[in-house]
Amino acid sequence: MQTELYESIDMHRMMLTDRIRNQIYRSALFATIRKGDVVLDVGAGSGILSLFAAQAGAAKVYAVERTSTAGLARQLAARNGFGDRIEIIHGDIRDVELPQPVDVLVSEWMGIYAVDENLLALVLEARDRFLRPGGAMVPRRSKVWLAPVWSEERDVALGLLDDVHGLSFQSIAAYPTDDLIWTGSGITPEHLRAAPQVLWDIDLASHAAADARLPFRAQRTFRASGAGLVNGLTPWFDADFGHGLVLSTRPGQPRTHWGHYVLPLSRNNAVVEGTEISAQLTCLPATPGHSHHAWSARVGTGSWEHHDTRTPRTTSQCCDGQPTCVPATPQWESTGRNATHSEQACRALGLPVH
Ligand SMILES: C[S@@+](CC[C@H](N)C(=O)[O-])C[C@H]1O[C@@H](n2cnc3c(N)ncnc32)[C@H](O)[C@@H]1O
Repeated sequence: MQTELYESIDMHRMMLTDRIRNQIYRSALFATIRKGDVVLDVGAGSGILSLFAAQAGAAKVYAVERTSTAGLARQLAARNGFGDRIEIIHGDIRDVELPQPVDVLVSEWMGIYAVDENLLALVLEARDRFLRPGGAMVPRRSKVWLAPVWSEERDVALGLLDDVHGLSFQSIAAYPTDDLIWTGSGITPEHLRAAPQVLWDIDLASHAAADARLPFRAQRTFRASGAGLVNGLTPWFDADFGHGLVLSTRPGQPRTHWGHYVLPLSRNNAVVEGTEISAQLTCLPATPGHSHHAWSARVGTGSWEHHDTRTPRTTSQCCDGQPTCVPATPQWESTGRNATHSEQACRALGLPVH
């Protein structure tokens, strides 16, 4: 999600009406904040988390918001009777100075699979600058999970290409698969084709801010849990707030505004119980609030296929109908003097080169 999106009132409306998200944050703040605490809300938006913090007994809340939503948050803090305890700071958290350390740092920084919103580094830098030693992070920990899936949306798209008024366009299936598919409720436990695995386990108290600026990369090998089709990968997150409070977007959990991504594969791959499915996911921080995504997969003894959201959307990229791993911008350093651009990109991403 791009930060500019947060100028839109609809974005805030969507978050404000996510009762599961709101309830867990509210309960966590009430369980964490002691009367008189000083709280920092990083990326305050409408100010809802700051209001919860004030209700929970905070003596002072610094609510930092970069977009013009800060003006709305100021009005809402006053209208709800907390204008004296919540100080809205309209600015970028990286430029802000605070007059005192804080006891609690709260932020809703998670993207659809947590790290993809590229806000984590900002939160950790704010932690290093403002949180007193022993202060509390809300949430405390976040795990990112991945599972191979069969997605109906992807299946429909592949089927449509196979039969366009009786003509087959299947050979261009690899071409459009470099776009993520967002699905509100399309992935349920029945769509998982193997037991999920953790890609990243982030402890907000100790994770280095500098590391959060680097690409998040992981490779995992799954075993199909039964016979079926695999046409995508789905990541999600669990955020642990302590006190037994976990906000989970795992398929099958109550629906939240995050929904799920399907990272599409080029075809419906048939698997049987035990078929090995290898998958790699790289989340590359880009502009503030935005990341690029690269993913690869190999199903059974098939060959690896590679996808990258930076791939140019031109027909020249699928001239032979094969999946490609050429990124849109050649920002990866060469790792082989004679390697082709495509090979360099694969190596830089840690992907197998064909
Ligand atoms: C996911 S929204 C959460 C909003 C609000 N805390 C809530 O829970 O409804 C993230 C917010 O962080 C803000 N943000 C992003 N980058 C920021 C930055 N560098 N400094 C301050 N705010 C930022 C965005 O504008 C957005 O309002």
